[in-house]
This record gives sequence, structure tokens and C-alpha cells, in this order.
Amino acid sequence: MTKYVQHGLKVQSKPDEVARQNFMLNMRSYVMLDMATGMKKIYDHNIEPNFKKLNKRDPKNGDEIHKVIKKDTYFKFYSSIRCNAQEMVFRSVLPPIERSMKDLKRKAKTLSKSKKIKGSLNLDKNLPIPKSVSAIDVHLMPGCYHSEHSENDMSQGAIYDNGVSVFSMGFFGDKLDDIGSSISLFIKKKYPKFKPLKILDLGCTVGHNTLPWSNAYPKAEVHALDVGAPVLRYGHARAQSEGVSVHFHQQNAEKTNFKDNSFDLVFSSMFLHEVPRKGIKLILKEAKRLLKPGGLMLHMELPPNKMLEPYDSFYLDWDSYYNKEPFYKPFRDMVPEKICSDAGFQKSKFVQFIIPSIGQFGDKEIIKSIKYQNGNVDDRTGRFTKGIHWYCFGSWK
Ligand SMILES: C[S@@+](CC[C@H](N)C(=O)[O-])C[C@H]1O[C@@H](n2cnc3c(N)ncnc32)[C@H](O)[C@@H]1O
Repeated sequence: MTKYVQHGLKVQSKPDEVARQNFMLNMRSYVMLDMATGMKKIYDHNIEPNFKKLNKRDPKNGDEIHKVIKKDTYFKFYSSIRCNAQEMVFRSVLPPIERSMKDLKRKAKTLSKSKKIKGSLNLDKNLPIPKSVSAIDVHLMPGCYHSEHSENDMSQGAIYDNGVSVFSMGFFGDKLDDIGSSISLFIKKKYPKFKPLKILDLGCTVGHNTLPWSNAYPKAEVHALDVGAPVLRYGHARAQSEGVSVHFHQQNAEKTNFKDNSFDLVFSSMFLHEVPRKGIKLILKEAKRLLKPGGLMLHMELPPNKMLEPYDSFYLDWDSYYNKEPFYKPFRDMVPEKICSDAGFQKSKFVQFIIPSIGQFGDKEIIKSIKYQNGNVDDRTGRFTKGIHWYCFGSWK
């Protein structure tokens, strides 16, 4: 299996399977780096000048670029290769997972009984799965986050963990935890007096970005929720295998059963852009309800369209049209300051940051970045431009 899944739930791939996964990693890298650069050249030399000639002005937004560029042969080729690569990434990890499922379940059972690691798994088999999860295979992951094929199934967790490790080409780090590790270090250093004792991660999937919070704040009680039972079962076993106590809950982030004012930090990463607008509004209100006064709500997300140049908006919104991510663009069209104040947070308590990736830049750059964080640094795309950065927004309560 890929070198990025190095924990107790690692599954064994045969040499030909490893070769297939490596091929997919390289193919993704070719599409996302080489072909994407080629497409930008076509835009700069052909699409944009033609647009200006015809309209006597620059394109206003990503939509306008998408409407024109989608007729271009290079774009069609790029898109079809990228869609195929996405499907093939997940297919490349299925055979070893199918072969290992019994073994994974056995390991999970043993790990959950650990006397030393006191995490828990709280499932609710009656929880309705939101249509935004059940009706589509989000980002073309077969079976999405919730499908169950057998009793106590964890397949979707294993597919996500292994699939994303091929998909991310190493940018998410050895344990896919770069986002959580970068942001938790940043928050710890920027707000040394803030010492959260109860933390909640919303839409945690397999908890890969939940665990770093436990490392950053070892005294904190860490909770994580998701609607998908198989990803939670897997996430629980994964955390136990890493020696980190996390309490996983099958709950809808729009309406949880936690008490008012019960958390110091409510976090999410790469979550809101998979939720319909109505749900996002409810989730932010719920976060406000759950936070103690003085607590922090923080969402790592794709940067909003209003922060980006039209080409970057078009480029990021590609997923909304072609990668079964229908809420990507609607989310990115929202204005973070406004959705926070609409949820009842004070405007003066709004925060946003662009944090360098710990894997790519190291601890020092994160600590250095604290000084110049005012939401105005250059690199806002968070992708393959001048290095990986993570955009975050939120509010103090
Ligand atoms: C892209 S994944 C999040 C990944 C993860 N947090 C990370 O850091 O990479 C989105 C997750 O949100 C979950 N989800 C979607 N809607 C939800 C809701 N209303 N409440 C809780 N979880 C939800 C999905 O099941 C999925 O596991």
C-alpha cells in the first residue's frame, strides 16, 4: 500500500497493486501539475485574449472563464483525464482492502478494547444520512462515506484513507494530517493563553485531522463527529492504533446532542464545501450554541471566490462541475465574514488565516507566519502555486 498509510490499520498490497497505486499517484501529479500548467498557458495565450477582444473587458469571475474554456480541446482532455484518474485512484486501492476486511475488523475489535487508550465509538443506527452524502458518490469515491456492505463494515473508511493517500500525492503528510498539524500548531503559538480543554471536530471522516489537536493540547478531551458509520468505525480503530484517545460520534453537525456551551474549540477541515448552503448556516449556528463564551470556531476550507483571481476561481470550481462536488462552488461563493455574523457571531470577533503547510514549510515558517497573518498574504489558492497553504476562517464567541 502507499507509503502514506503507516498505522495499525495498514493493509498489505501485492507488488502489482503497489505499482498500480504508484502509477495513479504519478498520473494525478501529471494532471494536477503538468497539464494544469499547460491549461493556464492556453488560457493566457488564447482564451483570455479572445475573451477580451470579444467583450472589450477582462473576465469578471470563474463562471465566465468556465463558459468559454469548456469548449476548448485542451480543457476537455484535461478534464477527462482528471475524472478518469480520480476514479482509478479509488479503484487502485480496492483489491487489497477487500482482501483485508476480515483482518481489519478483527484488529478494530482488539484495538477498541485497549485498556490504555480510552477513545470511544458512539454510533446511532437510526441517524438519517443527509441526501448530500447518500445521493452521490462524493468526489467519485465509490460508496461515499456511509455505505455498508457487511456487519460492522469499515470499508468506506479504508477506501478513504488509502484512496486519499494516493490522491494527495504526499501533500497531506505521512498520516494525512498536515491540515490538522499545521493549524493546531499555528493556533497554539498565536494564542498561547487559549488552552482548550474540550475540542470537537465536525465531519471528521477517519479522524486524520482530528488527532493532531490531541497532540497539540494533550489535556483536552477530544470529540469528533460524522454521519458515516463505516468511516467512524475505521477512524476509531485508527486513533486507538495511534495511541490517541478520541470520542467518535455518529451525529449530524447541523443538530448535535451535545449541551450548550460545552466546547472550547469547534473545528472542521474540508467539511463545509460538501454541505448544502442551508446546512452550512445550521452548522455555524450549532457551533455557536456548542461553544463556551471565549471559545473558538475554526473551519479550514477552500478559499472563498471573492479572494481569488477569476482564473483561480474557475480552476478550484472545476470540482463542482466534474468531480461530484455540487456544493463546492455554492460554498465558495459565500462570504465567510457574513456567514459567521449571520450565525450570531460578532463581526469584531471574526478571524481568518492562511497557514503554511507544516510538511512543506516546517514549524519555523508557521511560527514566522503568525506575525504577518492579517488575511492579506499573497498566496490564496491553497494549491500548487507558491506552495501549499491552508485557508481558515471562524470566530471567537
Ligand atoms: C471531505 S470529508 C471531511 C474530511 C476531513 N474532515 C478532513 O480533514 O480531511 C466530509 C465529511 O463530512 C461528513 N458529513 C457530511 N455532511 C455531514 C453532516 N451534516 N454532519 C456530519 N458529518 C457530515 C461526510 O460523511 C464526510 O466524512
